[in-house]
Amino acid sequence: MKALILAGGSGTRLRPITHARAKQLLPVANKPVLFYGLESIRDAGVTDVGVVVGDTADEIRAAVGDGSRFGLSVTYLRQERPLGLAHAVSVARNYLGDDDFVMYLGDNFLLGGITGLVDRFRAERPAAQIMLAKVPEPTKFGVAETDASGRVVGLEEKPREPRGDLALVGVYLFTPRVHEAIASLSPSGRGELEITDALQRLIDAGLPVSSALVEGYWKDTGEVEDMLEANRLVLEGVSACNEGTVDAESDLVGRVVVGEGARIVRSRVVGPTVIGPGAVVSDSCVGPFSSIAGGCVITRSEIERSIVLADASITGVSCIEESLIGCAVQIIALAQSVSRAHRFVLADHSRIQVSS
Ligand code: DAU
Repeated sequence: MKALILAGGSGTRLRPITHARAKQLLPVANKPVLFYGLESIRDAGVTDVGVVVGDTADEIRAAVGDGSRFGLSVTYLRQERPLGLAHAVSVARNYLGDDDFVMYLGDNFLLGGITGLVDRFRAERPAAQIMLAKVPEPTKFGVAETDASGRVVGLEEKPREPRGDLALVGVYLFTPRVHEAIASLSPSGRGELEITDALQRLIDAGLPVSSALVEGYWKDTGEVEDMLEANRLVLEGVSACNEGTVDAESDLVGRVVVGEGARIVRSRVVGPTVIGPGAVVSDSCVGPFSSIAGGCVITRSEIERSIVLADASITGVSCIEESLIGCAVQIIALAQSVSRAHRFVLADHSRIQVSS
C-alpha cells in the first residue's frame, strides 16, 4: 500500500497568512499540520508516500525533504494547478500504479491516527473506504448519506441543502478501481474534479464503499478558528519540559515547554504553552494555550490562546488573544493608552504599530 498526501491548493480562507506560506505548514503546537499526517501514515505501516505539491512546492520540499526523518520515502508529484482532489490523484496515477492507497488531505488534522482505519481496509478491502464526522455546518464539506446499516448510499460536495450532517473527513482509502472512476469525471460546478464524484461513481457501479465514523478529534484547518482550536487541543496533551533558561523572577505555571536555548526573563508563562527554541520572553505574560515558535521575541506584552510563527517580535502590547501571527511579523506599541484586547491575523513580514 502507498500513501498520497495532498499539499497543493491555494489556502484562500487562511489569507493573508497563506499568501506567503503553504497552509499545510502552519504549526499546531509548533509542529506543521502536515507532519501530524505524515506521522500517522508512518504509524499505520505505510512508508511510500507521494506528496502532491503546487505553487508552494519549494517550501513543502524544504520542510519534508526525502521523508527519511519521518521514516518515510517521499516522492514529490507536481500538480500544475489545483484542479481538484480527483485531479491530484490523476497526477499521481503513474506513481500509484496498481497499488491500494490511502489519500490524506495535508490540511486535515486528525488526533488518534489512522492505524485502525488502514487495518480495517486491509482486512475488508472494499473498493473504497471513507471516514465521516458529524459537523454543525455540513454545507462546508463533502456530505455522505448512509443507510441504516451505515453503508454509503450517496455523496455530494458542499451541498446547498445537505442530506444529513455527516461530513467526509480528509482521509480516504482506495483500491485501484478509483482510477477508472476518475477517468470518467468531468469538472464540477466549481471547476474541480471532485473525489466525491469519483466515490459516487463507485457506488453507482455497485461497488462496495464502506465508512467509519471518526472516533477522535478531527479538524479541517481551513480557517483561523480551526487552527486555534487544534492548537488548544494538542497543547492539552503536552508535558512540561524545560530545555532553556528561566530566571528567578519568572514563573512557569502548569505544563510549559521551554525549547532549547529559549529564555524566560521576569515573565509569567501559563501552561499549556510551548515556547520554541531560541525564543526570548521578557517582562511578559504568555499563555495559556499559546504556541510561540522558535526565534520569537516577546517583550512587555501579554498573549494568550494564540499561535505565533517563527521569528515574530511583539513589544509592549497587552491583551493579544486568539491571534495567528505570521513569520517575522513585528508588532510594536508606541504610546501608553487604555488597554483593550486586540485580535490579529497577520501575514508573514507584516509590521504593525498599535497603541497600548
Ligand atoms: O476537509 C475535508 C473536506 O476536504 C471534505 O469534506 C471535502 O469533501 C473535500 O472536497 C475537501 O474539501 P476542501 O474544500 O476543504 O478541500 P481543499 O480545497 O481545502 O483541499 C484539501 C487539501 O488538498 C489541501 O491540503 C489542498 C490540497 N489540494 C486541493 C486541491 C483542490 C491539492 O493538493 N490539489 C487540489 O487540486
